[in-house]
Amino acid sequence: MNGAARCLFDPTGPAACTIVVLGATGDLARRKLFPALAGLFARGRLAEESRIMACGRRMMSDESFRSLLGGGNGATATPEFLRHISYHRLDFSEAETFSTMAARMRADGWPANRLFYLALPPASYEDAAKCLGNAGLGREDGNWSRIVIEKPFGHDLESARRLNRTLHAHFREEQIFRIDHYLAKETVQNILVFRFANAIFEPLWNRQYIDSVAILATETLGVGSRAAYYDSAGVLRDMFQNHLLQILALTAMEPPARFEAEQVQDEKIKVFRSLKPPGENDLATGQYGAGAIDGEDVAAYVDEPGVPPDSATPTFARLTAYIDNWRWRGVPFVMISGKRLRKKITRIVIGFRSVPHSMFRDILADDIPRNRLLINIYPGEGIGLSFQSKAPGGRFCLGEELMRFDFAGQGDGTDAYGRALIDCLNGERLLFWRQDGIEATWKYLEPALACCGRQAPPVIYPAGTYGPPPEHEYISSLVGEGER
Ligand SMILES: NC(=O)c1ccc[n+]([C@@H]2O[C@H](COP(=O)([O-])OP(=O)(O)OC[C@H]3O[C@@H](n4cnc5c(N)ncnc54)[C@H](OP(=O)(O)O)[C@@H]3O)[C@@H](O)[C@H]2O)c1
Repeated sequence: MNGAARCLFDPTGPAACTIVVLGATGDLARRKLFPALAGLFARGRLAEESRIMACGRRMMSDESFRSLLGGGNGATATPEFLRHISYHRLDFSEAETFSTMAARMRADGWPANRLFYLALPPASYEDAAKCLGNAGLGREDGNWSRIVIEKPFGHDLESARRLNRTLHAHFREEQIFRIDHYLAKETVQNILVFRFANAIFEPLWNRQYIDSVAILATETLGVGSRAAYYDSAGVLRDMFQNHLLQILALTAMEPPARFEAEQVQDEKIKVFRSLKPPGENDLATGQYGAGAIDGEDVAAYVDEPGVPPDSATPTFARLTAYIDNWRWRGVPFVMISGKRLRKKITRIVIGFRSVPHSMFRDILADDIPRNRLLINIYPGEGIGLSFQSKAPGGRFCLGEELMRFDFAGQGDGTDAYGRALIDCLNGERLLFWRQDGIEATWKYLEPALACCGRQAPPVIYPAGTYGPPPEHEYISSLVGEGER
């Protein structure tokens, strides 16, 4: 970065708190949460007096849990960090395991500010909220108590509303943090700065200059060990209801008057409410068959452990959304995500309109390619702008150049989970979902989900391609441009 950074808010001097991780033995906790907490601790973003209670179903001593973490996280889990962690067995069918945890934290004088992170299977969220509430852990007596839940926020509109009612029976809205770690990624946060702290892009940010927007989140991984959840969810619930629609909202929203959580949320909700219900032609889905990724053979989705052999669950979708408002009417926002695709790429591609008149038309064989703005989230967080220039030399040839700005190697190493955790601890809600947004996105997706239910058998695409054939061509064009 050239020039001094201006910080909007950078809370320093964190307050001491107790962080309770429910589901501490699971994948998310071990791969993401504890390394993020260890990083915050190492950078002094967690107060020295803070304590962490790791909770799981199995019997385990403090020491054996610490060695589980120490082994898995290498250098990040230092002995100083591990000393802040204790382990407690919790069982939702034994209410007393929650009251003994509360008593243990009180008896040991742990900080009264409490953050409960539910790193649990979604089916357990309601039980966990009830047990915490019934043990009095949602009460705030001069201190704060917050609960963090991970996506998915329900399975559909009705279940999302039910989950919300249960949470609200024990916690106030201000205590509930519905996390979407995509929103804490560097480039995603930068969309708002890029759009609203620069005067040069906003005049072009509309249907007059922008022809299409593509939002791409392709994965090389298959379903792995998550078949039980994934087969009942599918790609629309797993990626579109949360991450992709959030990115769409940030890209399309009107400028809020202030950079404040409620105002930013209000503008995002307006986008969700302006989405035209998707028609059948707006959706293409597929399911991965056997193939090869990076030269290694991989199994078909239906041959993965835990997946029913006759499953019709889509592992790929392309959903074209239209925002029915003055700024965006008629501009397609093409959202794409899938598993076992050729490369892992998360990117927004803003396609500008072609030049209105080409004075080079008599000397060029092809049309002049359109300008594109690439907002890369993975790999290589950064922003690129493609434009035409004269290729150096005696002949008059046009070539495409990509002007790039990379975030790689910048920053203090705090990852998306670390950033989201800091905001939870500070009560800053900008990165989190609000219930009305969740309901609006489920409402929008309902016709697409119903359409998926009717699309059996699924279109099969070979693992290692970019989805069913017409989609493969289109996605290859989006991917290729960023690699120049
Ligand atoms: N993994 C990721 O990268 C990721 C990314 C985004 C969101 N998420 C979300 O984060 C949540 C956790 O995912 P995960 O991948 O970590 O799942 P996971 O590996 O299956 O771990 C779940 C944890 O919950 C515990 N648990 C399971 N069933 C329980 C029950 N009936 N009662 C009490 N505890 C129970 C497990 O304990 P045992 O070890 O005893 O089984 C384990 O500690 C899910 O909602 C998921 O959708 C995960």
